[in-house]
Amino acid sequence: MLGKSFQTSFFGESHGRCVGVLIEGCPPGIKVDLEELNKELEKRRPGGSIYVSPRREEDRVEILSGVFNEFTTGSPIVVIIYNKDVISFYYEKIKNTPRPSHADFVARIKYYGYNDYRGGGIFSGRITAPMVVAGYFAKKILKRFDVEVYSYIKRIGKFECNPSIEEIKKNTYKSPIRFPDLSKVEEIENYLKEIMREGDTIGGIVETIALNLPIGLGEPPIDTLDGDLAKALFMIPAVKGVEFGAGFNFSVMKGSEANDPYIIKDGKVLTLTNNSGGILGGISNGMPLIHRVVIKPASSIRKKQRTVDLEKMKETEIVVEGRHDPCIAIRAVPVVESVTSIIIADHLLRWLSWKELLEK
Ligand SMILES: Cc1cc2nc3c(=O)[nH]c(=O)nc-3n(C[C@H](O)[C@H](O)[C@H](O)COP(=O)(O)O)c2cc1C
Repeated sequence: MLGKSFQTSFFGESHGRCVGVLIEGCPPGIKVDLEELNKELEKRRPGGSIYVSPRREEDRVEILSGVFNEFTTGSPIVVIIYNKDVISFYYEKIKNTPRPSHADFVARIKYYGYNDYRGGGIFSGRITAPMVVAGYFAKKILKRFDVEVYSYIKRIGKFECNPSIEEIKKNTYKSPIRFPDLSKVEEIENYLKEIMREGDTIGGIVETIALNLPIGLGEPPIDTLDGDLAKALFMIPAVKGVEFGAGFNFSVMKGSEANDPYIIKDGKVLTLTNNSGGILGGISNGMPLIHRVVIKPASSIRKKQRTVDLEKMKETEIVVEGRHDPCIAIRAVPVVESVTSIIIADHLLRWLSWKELLEK
């Protein structure tokens, strides 16, 4: 289970009957609008543009429990999303020849060959659909506190942007590649088309900014806010690194450059800069929370690669077929936003109970 107060657990395999989420600890009285929920899911659905894979994963959501008369009841919520558009025969063909840098090899060894290998099983990007469902409920909690979370593509290959928060809000979903600097979109589109022609894939960085967090979220020494976020973000397949604020750039900074001086503005204590990314000592400090995750290129490429035949114990070659995204970072944007929201919601609920007790 992820979280302590707002607990989530994800299940299902890519080519099984469904994927889904169990949510425990979601407060009662939260309005649930299926159309709104489907719109959230639509943001990560393949087929939305030519740069994500053409699989038609029609996300048919079914709420099995915890919602009554369009409001959460306070009881455990179970939501499933049926799998459709499933083509499994290819995975029978490559059952014994693991795709380099996918999870096929480790899954086979760890689960003694009993794992559902079709479509990558639990290691498929499909498992991120229920993360977006849980994010929908979490965002509803965040809204009560005016907390807003925005993720966008910071970098694809060599293309990078430094948008203002207004540009992020306005442009991210106007751009098919979730890149808010619209002036560069065409050039990146051409680059992605080239990558596709080569049968290759490319990585990316997703940056997230969360606004209006109260000071005090995070439970050190173990459940620090950054620690919990990092753990949750690493649930997302293909995430290979997480950094907060100035992150790895701290390695070339002096203390005098890295420190965020305190100032007072409108009667509030703020910091002049935000190299800390809104977290100090594992606790939110009231400044915008900023993190970046790096998403590796999808390992399923159409170029010939070396692999092994595990039955024959011989080296061989593989050309991965099927339909795969040229840049999975694009589809990861709403997933990163959802997972961040899930962790903030959990910490808000934990913080709230202290607040109520101490203010009595
Ligand atoms: C939204 C999303 C979609 C993905 N789609 C693909 C895909 O089409 N092909 C692929 O090889 N990997 C895809 N992945 C990544 C693999 O699931 C992941 O690389 C694999 O499980 C191995 O895990 P690791 O990269 O974290 O080590 C996707 C990941 C996400 C988040």
